[in-house]
Formats: sequence, C-alpha cells, structure tokens
Amino acid sequence: MSNHQTNDFDFEEHWNNAYQKVPADNLGWYEEDPIPSMELILECNLPKDALLFNAGVGAATLIELLLNKGYLNIVVNDIAASALTELKNNLTAYKQAEVEFIVDDLTKPTELLKLKNVDLWHDRAVLHFFTTKQQQQAYFNLIQKVIRLKGYVILAEFNLEGAKKCSGLDVFNYNEEMLQERLGEDFKLLKSFNYTYIQPSGNTREYVYTLFQKIA
Ligand SMILES: C[S@@+](CC[C@H](N)C(=O)[O-])C[C@H]1O[C@@H](n2cnc3c(N)ncnc32)[C@H](O)[C@@H]1O
Repeated sequence: MSNHQTNDFDFEEHWNNAYQKVPADNLGWYEEDPIPSMELILECNLPKDALLFNAGVGAATLIELLLNKGYLNIVVNDIAASALTELKNNLTAYKQAEVEFIVDDLTKPTELLKLKNVDLWHDRAVLHFFTTKQQQQAYFNLIQKVIRLKGYVILAEFNLEGAKKCSGLDVFNYNEEMLQERLGEDFKLLKSFNYTYIQPSGNTREYVYTLFQKIA
C-alpha cells in the first residue's frame, strides 16, 4: 500500500478488505465500551425516537449499546458493505430491524443526501481520513444539509498530538478550534476533551472529542 493516497485510490476496496481480513474486535479502532461517545450522546438528553446518525460506523459496539438503551431510530452508514454486514450479523434479528443501514461514501454522498432532520450526528475516527479540501468540504456540506436546528454533532478525531496514520492511510489531525471553524458559526461548541484510547494491541491513540449544537 502506498503511503500517500493518489486521486484514484480505491477507499471502498481498502475498507472492505480491512473488515474482511481481521475480526472486528481485533481492528486497531475496536472499542469494547465506547465510554466517551456514550457519555456525550446521553448528555444530549434526546428522546428515544430521535434520529441518531452514525457516520462511518464500521462494526462499532456503540450501536448495540444504543439499542439496549432504547433508542429506536438509528441510521448507520459506512463506505464498506463488509463492515455493515458484520455490524448487522452481531445484532439479533429484532435489533437489525430497528436500524437503517446505508452503504455510501460520505465524501461523495448519494443515498445520504436523502437524510433530513438528523437529531444527532456521531463520527468517531472517520473525518480524519479525509485529507483533501474537496473531501472535507463534501463531508461538512453533508452535515449542514441533514442536521436539524438544535441538532447535535459529535466529532471524535485524532488530535494534533495524535497519530499521523491509521489503517495504513494518512490522516488529517484536528483540535476543537479547527472543527469549530469547519462547522462554522451556526454550530456552538458545548464540550470538548482530549481522550487516550487504548487499542487491542495495547498501543494508545490520542483523540479530541467535541460536541456541537446547531444553533442557527
Ligand atoms: C477507523 S474506522 C472507525 C469505525 C467506527 N467509527 C468506530 O469508531 O469503530 C473508520 C471507518 O470509516 C469508514 N469510512 C472511511 N471512509 C469513508 C467514507 N468516505 N464514507 C463512509 N465511511 C467511510 C471505514 O470503512 C471505517 O469503518
């Protein structure tokens, strides 16, 4: 794999391979108990029928935990169909039926453009893979389009002291000011903290967690 992705790099193939080659609980981003995400989501105090959108969800345990808490309007997305298949297979048939699965590219959305009135957008370790201005702009345009007024946005990305690569891909590191600037003044920062995540291998990864609310 090249160190620097070229314009024709096939991200869909890359991510499908990642989930096909390694069991989800061994991947470098596997989180058995997604404590910081769950804390931020619960702080939003949303009703159980709120529309919770999970961008680039992979096979995250967060979804089953949210279902266990009674949330019943969950939409998940990933560029990798293999990731969503794994996520689905880890849920009971009853729980599968409560989740909408959307395979789509956040940087070239088609199906995702149909979303509206999202109450909460959650992204852990996805945005930082978008290294070009074009990819980043498409991502932030999508948030602006689908989030409702007073809706919440959680972005958890590698921070400025964090790793420069993940899954063999280059990453773009963030701090809270950069995320605020990209979201714009219609979004108010409610909370932000740095967080050290421990990988299954025992290595650590430094994240910045941010919670914003759309106020205008
Ligand atoms: C490091 S993993 C994090 C997965 C999950 N959010 C978690 O915390 O476990 C990055 C995820 O983003 C997905 N992804 C990467 N680029 C994407 C894109 N352009 N559109 C949608 N999903 C994407 C990958 O397939 C992968 O599941």
